Amino acid sequence: MPDSKATAIAHPNIAFIKYWGNRDDVLRLPSNGSISMNLEGLSTKTEVKFNPQLREDSLILNHKKLGGPALERVYAFLDIVRKLSGRQIYAEITSENNFPTGAGMASSASAFAALALAASNAIGLNLSETELSRLARRGSGSACRSIPDGFVEWYEGDKDENSYAASIAPAAFWDLVDCIALVTTSHKEVGSTAGHRLASTSPLQTARLQDAYRRLDFCRSAILKKDFQQLAEIIELDSNLMHAVMMTSKPALFYWEPQTIEVMRAVRNWRGQGIPACYTLDAGPNVHIICLSSASDKIQRNLAQMNFIQQVIVSKPGAGAASLPD
Ligand code: DP6
Repeated sequence: MPDSKATAIAHPNIAFIKYWGNRDDVLRLPSNGSISMNLEGLSTKTEVKFNPQLREDSLILNHKKLGGPALERVYAFLDIVRKLSGRQIYAEITSENNFPTGAGMASSASAFAALALAASNAIGLNLSETELSRLARRGSGSACRSIPDGFVEWYEGDKDENSYAASIAPAAFWDLVDCIALVTTSHKEVGSTAGHRLASTSPLQTARLQDAYRRLDFCRSAILKKDFQQLAEIIELDSNLMHAVMMTSKPALFYWEPQTIEVMRAVRNWRGQGIPACYTLDAGPNVHIICLSSASDKIQRNLAQMNFIQQVIVSKPGAGAASLPD
């Protein structure tokens, strides 16, 4: 039998309404729905080559062969793909990120979205967008949001079949920009998989979840109306709520560095001065500054004056995962 191979590309996404905590850790069924924007400027390209001669899966990321937990996670994911296809066949995976690894940029969303598309194509499954989103979710929850185009909502669901993401609006719908300020990469973080398991230990998580539908509605309608002030209000509230849960879980997770707070403060001041910008943070110290494209140059000039910032990555809204010719 010849090799069956396929290549796919996917972008990471930045959540406006965050996913934090699972109702089922194995199936990655989240405790609340979430909304995000794909990031065009960043991408993961992955080739999957199934070969009947192989006795195990292998993984090369950015020209480096990986073993350990990274390979185990990929292996567990490919087991789901093998089961779906009914074929017990192993693969060589070659993956590349166009953004700096080790710079605190989360890559599991684009990684598992690209892998879900390439692996399912290579093994001969022809999955719909919804099925692909469900599959990507099993590798990394936020990866299900990197399958559809542009501005995306993940419906929490209560079982595998109804927990998936769909596009709210295409990437071209609204010219927002994410200016990502990398402030420091020096401290060791607790990864999101471990973090999700701690969410329910915070007494604030119940309140955060109770208010989730309101925030989702508010955020979705802000996007559909292109109302930046409304969007800014809910994005910052949602990020602050998630970090309040993180800081009050057991053990407590503190992702902010002093420089993080400095950038958050500056963004609030800029908005006070009429610059359409707001901040949001994932499970790390870097600050995503979401703004209207008309404000992007000014924000980059302002960030250039904060000399502790190591790098600024600028991204427009991105498309969904796509197959590439071999
Ligand atoms: C803070 O999707 O990375 O970025 O499912 O364990 O891979 P796993 O978690 P992951 O969690 C993302 C957490 C977040 C918020 C978000 O993107 O919604």
